[in-house]
Amino acid sequence: ADQLPRELLDLIAEARYVAVLSGAGISAESGVPTFREVQTGLWERFSAQDLATVEAYEADPALVWTWYRWRQALIEAVEPNPGHRALAAWQQHLAAGSGRLSISTQNVDDLHERAGSEVLGHLHGAIAAHRCLDCGAEATLPRPEYDGSVPPQNPEEPPTCTACGTGRLRPGVVWFGEMLPMDAFEAAAESVRTADLVLVVGTSGIVQPAASLPLLALERGTPLVEVNPEDTELTEYMDYAVRGGSGQMIPRLLAAAGVLESNG
Ligand code: APR
Ligand code: ZN
Repeated sequence: ADQLPRELLDLIAEARYVAVLSGAGISAESGVPTFREVQTGLWERFSAQDLATVEAYEADPALVWTWYRWRQALIEAVEPNPGHRALAAWQQHLAAGSGRLSISTQNVDDLHERAGSEVLGHLHGAIAAHRCLDCGAEATLPRPEYDGSVPPQNPEEPPTCTACGTGRLRPGVVWFGEMLPMDAFEAAAESVRTADLVLVVGTSGIVQPAASLPLLALERGTPLVEVNPEDTELTEYMDYAVRGGSGQMIPRLLAAAGVLESNG
């Protein structure tokens, strides 16, 4: 079937207020593993879901801390991919014409920012924003050395907070069951409510409440578009489901819609 129907290209060409919700899949082509694929290498015997919880951190702080430092080092060692860059270019294109493209991401990486995008909010926090369990102070730490030598066999203990001197640091991400940053969540909801096009990229649509954000588009019949190689929990609500990797499909969509000149 035609992956890029004319009506979709017209929607993209005419959109002025675009709301984007991105998930781990948009960073997959940069080499950042998604959450529900099997982990490989050093951490293959752990599943992300088992490590990304308060219980896991309390049971074994060093293991969970080390896993996040490993992911942070990995993220810092990779580059944004053409999917991130196409969204940044589209955002600049719309801003130049007094339109707006808002990106709310479930990702804790900074690849949207490193591609040049303004990000409206990180719904699940940011991997570099470590914070103290006791006083809540945020700590920025030196870049973790990523040479693959951070195996779970000899995990590093979470450092002690230098602000209060007693608390232990934890990753600045939102774990299952924890509250999302409400300002980011409300801003994301408002961006969807006021959009004339909603683009959902690289998310399985499993984790609530982030996964419900695109459904706010149904209130006003705003067109919903998904970019994902596979079906998701949200596919049934989509007006268009573009089946492919975001690194390939977003540039293709924007070029075909005439929003961006196709850069080869
Ligand atoms: N381009 C676009 N999508 C892709 C690509 C790609 N190249 N590769 C994989 N995907 C899709 C997968 O098909 C899947 O639908 O990305 C999605 C990744 O789903 P998850 O791993 O569940 O990631 P996400 O939806 O972001 O998870 C949400 O769950 O684990 C928590 O807090 C964590 O933010 C995360 C949240
Ligand atoms: Zn502290």
